[in-house]
Amino acid sequence: MKSRKIIFANWKMNLDSRGISNLVQDILSEMKNFDNLDVILSPPFPYLKLVSDLIRGSKLSLSSQNVFYEDVGSYTGEVSTNMLKDVGCDWVMMGHSERRQHLLETNEMINKKILASTHNGLNAILCVGESFDERRHNKTFVRISDQLKRGLRDVKYDALPCIVIGYEPIWVIGSGEPARLKDIQEVHNFISNELDSMFPDSTNLPRIVYGGSVNNLNINSIISLKNVDGVLVGNASMDCEVFCDIVLKVGDST
Ligand code: 13P
Repeated sequence: MKSRKIIFANWKMNLDSRGISNLVQDILSEMKNFDNLDVILSPPFPYLKLVSDLIRGSKLSLSSQNVFYEDVGSYTGEVSTNMLKDVGCDWVMMGHSERRQHLLETNEMINKKILASTHNGLNAILCVGESFDERRHNKTFVRISDQLKRGLRDVKYDALPCIVIGYEPIWVIGSGEPARLKDIQEVHNFISNELDSMFPDSTNLPRIVYGGSVNNLNINSIISLKNVDGVLVGNASMDCEVFCDIVLKVGDST
């Protein structure tokens, strides 16, 4: 049941309302056929409603790039799961390395976000990944295991199908050069085994997607790897032609 491929467009803190509106309309008119895929757009908070209105009735889905774990209250600047659902989100992203680094997001905060999101009916993508230094010092698997175990603490079996793990090696993000296929394969196999041992009775484990300088030229080799259930695309997802080509190629690979 892990076979449905998934593609996330993470626009990070880029574009404005006009740019987003043009991009979404271009994607909608370009992308005709992706019945066998989940394609998810993730604009900055202020444009969620705009994208939600534009994609209504299409097969595209909407994700936020963050969420807060409390339902309501005096949390200035934060946004709850219900608010996200109210504007049409089906997904939330959490634990992106840019948030871990710049916003000091911890595994414990991320865990609360996962629990709140899945409890309130949202799908969640949990991002994990090692730094260049950690890879150099053979700490990749220790780091990722820690992020998985602490991020997924207390997650119930029935929430697992609503969770996707995003593997993003930090130093290749935005570099134009993805990680080596051999390294992607090794880490995805590792994550798959970790999930298996954390949830031994599950027949519906989270899908695992790769992120980091994915484009339409390298997608075929990445998506053909075992245990790679999709991709998280940053820069290349803001170019309609390139992004639609990625979606087409992932669709052809299934
Ligand atoms: P790039 O595709 O620009 O490397 O970004 C990857 C990413 O961080 C997606 O979440």
